[in-house]
Amino acid sequence: YNIPKAINEPVKTYAPNSPEKKSLLDTYKKMYSEKVDIPFYIGGKEIRTGTTVSIHPPHDHKHTVGNYHVAEKKHIEEAVSNVLEARKKWAATPWQDRAAIFLKAADLLAGPYRDRMNAATMIGQSKNVMQAEIDSACELIDFFRFNVQFMTEIYANQPISSPGIWNRMQYRPLEGFIYAITPFNFTAIAGNLPASPVMMGNVCVWKPAQTQVYSAQIIMELFKEAGLPDGVINMVTGDPKMITEVLLDNKHFAGIHFTGSTGVFNSFWEQIGKNINQGKYVSYPRIVGETGGKDFVWMHPSADAKQVATALSRGAFEYQGQKCSAASRAYIPKSKWNEVQKLVKADLATMKMGSPEDTSNFINAVIDKKAFDRVTSYIDAVKSDSDAEIIVGGNYDDSVGYFIEPTVILTTNPKYSTMCTELFGPVLTIYVYEDEEWEKSLTLVDETSQYALTGAIFSGDRYVIDIATNALENSAGNFYINDKPTGAVVGQQPFGGARASGTNDKAGSVWNLLRWVNNRTIKETF
Ligand code: ALA
Repeated sequence: YNIPKAINEPVKTYAPNSPEKKSLLDTYKKMYSEKVDIPFYIGGKEIRTGTTVSIHPPHDHKHTVGNYHVAEKKHIEEAVSNVLEARKKWAATPWQDRAAIFLKAADLLAGPYRDRMNAATMIGQSKNVMQAEIDSACELIDFFRFNVQFMTEIYANQPISSPGIWNRMQYRPLEGFIYAITPFNFTAIAGNLPASPVMMGNVCVWKPAQTQVYSAQIIMELFKEAGLPDGVINMVTGDPKMITEVLLDNKHFAGIHFTGSTGVFNSFWEQIGKNINQGKYVSYPRIVGETGGKDFVWMHPSADAKQVATALSRGAFEYQGQKCSAASRAYIPKSKWNEVQKLVKADLATMKMGSPEDTSNFINAVIDKKAFDRVTSYIDAVKSDSDAEIIVGGNYDDSVGYFIEPTVILTTNPKYSTMCTELFGPVLTIYVYEDEEWEKSLTLVDETSQYALTGAIFSGDRYVIDIATNALENSAGNFYINDKPTGAVVGQQPFGGARASGTNDKAGSVWNLLRWVNNRTIKETF
């Protein structure tokens, strides 16, 4: 197919005194002083109920940048009947038209929408400028462009035929609607989860995280300007429990596209299972989810200490450790510990904390009070535990924003609570093992966590790399050799994990898009 070849969107550097930096910060300041009144969307209509929730930047929680309107049950029911109506035309729309909309969305985001989307992510989700750029600009643009390419690769895949017999595969959308539930931590995921099923001809009801509505609204504007017909994606905001109950109980519920916690994902399976038993659905719904993680860094004595230290400080503390891919437990050999420790401490000492508006701040705030309380309760517990100590950070202050210092815990207990539990915050726990037990320590890595999202091993020895790669074959869906476990790039490292980390359908890939098609095999004889 003759479509524009997908290439990764170049990352802008926002160098000091550059016009691109000035333009972004001007946009940030303007948006910071405005008050937005965010509706939810049904059939292209902006709906404001008057029941609102205000939006505060996590780094300045007494300041208000606007509010969003809360939908009632009747609105959610209307959102479903409306997408099903829109499905009639959308499912029959040629793929070229669907592709063109998303290619245009990518171009708009690369151009006129870039500053607003980045500024919204910096303000609403407290990301520093580079973390916003690689997420809400580059990764979302890449999702659109690469998925268009993957879509054409799927359509080109056809069964064999022979003279007199023409076999073909029709890649049709699912019969019903998709429910997309998206997290706060990546604007790109928020845009991609509704977009990828829709690209394959489906319609979608989308519920963004309550803490990401600020940038979610701009995604809706982007879709509209790119030409997405009204009602193909209806974005609803409000009580997650009520919204989910109404949508999962609908006969035409055809699939869920989710990123969030393992517990929430489990509850969907339960409700969907009950409904299947009662014969409620037209078809078996597709359940696609990326959930928790407890991502590891494992170092062999042959590895380079500097490389490992960088992987730890960057991999654990970019975006305050709130990436599902963030390094949160590490296994370091005794002979290397002093060197690694020194380098990690030196790097962390350079990381300033504060508002994203000051672009020299690497660390910003955690997303909300709930996250702040959760993470700090684990930090406090260390202070009275005999098998763990805080060796870096450990201080926090929520008087202005939800700020927690990058915190490194050293433990003598490989099963210490923060080695096993996902905290989703700026906390890294380290266990130092005896060099000669390196092979045994791989079993610890594998058995300590129920999750299997990302992980990184470091070694200069090819045989060790081979042994570790095999020993950890089920421990991470994204496995890095001599690199940090964060920062997967669309088209390069398709992302997702198994075990309690999800269904491993790899966001931004052919495998993900294949979940959103209802294939019909046609045999025609002449
Ligand atoms: N895709 C994101 C990363 O790899 C989660 O960091």
